[in-house]
Amino acid sequence: MKFTALLLPLTLASTTLASSKTISSALATVDAATTKLGTAVTSWRGDLLGTLPIIAESTALLIEVKKGTKTAKDSAPLDLPATLDVATATNKLVASVNTTLGALISSKKKFDKLLLSPIIYGNLGLQKYATEEMSKAIIAKVPSGLQDLAKGLVAPISKSFELALDTFHP
Ligand SMILES: *[C@@H]1O[C@H](CO)[C@@H](O)[C@H](O)[C@H]1NC(C)=O
Repeated sequence: MKFTALLLPLTLASTTLASSKTISSALATVDAATTKLGTAVTSWRGDLLGTLPIIAESTALLIEVKKGTKTAKDSAPLDLPATLDVATATNKLVASVNTTLGALISSKKKFDKLLLSPIIYGNLGLQKYATEEMSKAIIAKVPSGLQDLAKGLVAPISKSFELALDTFHP
């Protein structure tokens, strides 16, 4: 009886720790994939063959976002320290999304030349939707008193997508 009482909080603590690590590390993976896509876009000279790495990184990113959504859905609710970890990871992602979508916006004319802008537009729509699904899944695990704050924290990501979608709108 005493043992159970002692072990239960420990088990709960380790579960929260594990899930915090999982959502945070999923966000870190999404962040890395976002940066890789940005690098592919920035180093692209505008040739057709050079779009292959962009397509590959874009697909990889979408897969990671979907994995992150599943990780968040499977996660236990986050405690305060775990929420702070996730907030830090989110801030990083906000900056990467800004940079990567900024690079994409700057490359619009190159995509136009290859008639690829409508494809980019479609892809951006998919990415935006997938990212918002991931955000929703994560916010659902944040303590209820902090959910509005969390929504504010991820809002710039949707804003970045809207800017990019406006730019690529056919
Ligand atoms: C990136 O952030 C800057 C500064 O907040 C903002 O002016 C710019 O519109 C953002 N760009 C994108 C693509 O989100």
